[in-house]
Amino acid sequence: MGIAFFLVFTLLSCSKDDGNSPEPSAKLGIPFASTASNITDTSFQANWVLVPEAESYLIDVSTSSSFSMMLTGYEAFVVQGNTVSVIGLSPAINYYYRVRAKRGAEISSNSNAITVITTGVIPEEPEDPTFLKVKANALANPFFVGVAVKSNQLTEGSSYDTVLKNEFSSITAEYEMKMNPISTGSGSYNWVAADKIVKYGNDNGINVHGHALVWHNAVPNWLANFSGTDAEFALEVKKYITDVVTRYAGKVKSWDVVNEAVNDNDGGLRNTIFLQKMGPNYIKDCFQWARDAANAAGDTNLLLFYNDYATSTNINKQNKVYTIVDDLMANNLIDGVGFQMHNTYLSPTKIQMETDINRAVVKGLKIHVSELDIQVNQNNDITYLTEERNLAQKAKYLEIVKIYNALPAANKYALTVWGFKDNESWIPYNTDLNHPGNDWPLLYDKDFKLKSAHTGFLEGLN
Ligand code: XIL
Repeated sequence: MGIAFFLVFTLLSCSKDDGNSPEPSAKLGIPFASTASNITDTSFQANWVLVPEAESYLIDVSTSSSFSMMLTGYEAFVVQGNTVSVIGLSPAINYYYRVRAKRGAEISSNSNAITVITTGVIPEEPEDPTFLKVKANALANPFFVGVAVKSNQLTEGSSYDTVLKNEFSSITAEYEMKMNPISTGSGSYNWVAADKIVKYGNDNGINVHGHALVWHNAVPNWLANFSGTDAEFALEVKKYITDVVTRYAGKVKSWDVVNEAVNDNDGGLRNTIFLQKMGPNYIKDCFQWARDAANAAGDTNLLLFYNDYATSTNINKQNKVYTIVDDLMANNLIDGVGFQMHNTYLSPTKIQMETDINRAVVKGLKIHVSELDIQVNQNNDITYLTEERNLAQKAKYLEIVKIYNALPAANKYALTVWGFKDNESWIPYNTDLNHPGNDWPLLYDKDFKLKSAHTGFLEGLN
């Protein structure tokens, strides 16, 4: 209806222009403003129907429907014709325009007002620019914010190096301080990568956490195929622990002495080569050798940790871990517990994590959240990081950081993330983990862009 009316009106106007020019004395009409066109994030085209008597038009643009204040440059802006591009606008804002006709000094009343919303989205508030370690250091009860690293990432002056030094106050070797890369044979070692990592930490005032002296998944071939007696096998393990702890005494603040010694099914000891050849006391022996080596090297402050995963959701496993911990405590051999926390956006729950961690807190032990990452695609049901998962992940980061930050000062040590860039995470396509697809478990994306997860981490420190 409206469009038909405009067409007829316009045709009539044209036919008048063609033949009989209106008398100068004819009353100056009021223009009819029509819908805006060509709407973008920063501009639109205002339109109106020509008034035959008019020589020009005056257009007002405002963000208020009462036109209480006009946009700079668009108060009675003079236009010839029936359209003008309004430019220099902001995305996702509601604007209003209206038009008057002008003939000489004579000006008509205002047309109807047209409302138009520019496209795009309102830019979010800039992310909190605070660096993680800066904020953690400023807490009443501060703690280290750690990250897992690989030696080939530690190039001075690289983007990686810059982010690491800005954000993190502790490092853990992701694999290069495990037994298989270091131990090349009985009493022979390759220290190159481990030395580089430790030196990087020491040179830059970054705490170094040692990971891990004994782990069933990092047994070098020569030891896996060891043909000597069980007693000789134990001596090899003792020699390895002694040599590594001695080399890094005073340079490495803490060690995971034994990693993942409990199985997932029945909460028994995992059936590793160490259990098979050394018997159920092997965990205590390893801690004792580590302690002895540190003391002999003059480092009486070395912190010794037992480290494991999935203890918050697997209660049999949790119970067994605390049996091991109690035994180590009875022998004055353990300083803390590492909770790996390779979590998902759904699990574990807050209460599960708190209950688990609290069992170590009440024993007076240090708590290391030692390998934190939060999967969002464990069921391979998304092909990119959706906003919904992104926010769920942010909430989960916030939750665990908050849990950690609420710990008593004496129990705090470090909260370590297992890498900081999604594309460098061990999670995507991991066959051991049975993770079939891609994932985005960390704080930065592949281009060093901060994710909402990072904001969640920061908010957990509030
Ligand atoms: C993983 C590393 O991320 C991988 O790069 C490496 O190939 C295998 O080990 N629990 C641990 C860590 O204690 O050492 C593991 O790290 C992840 C699971």
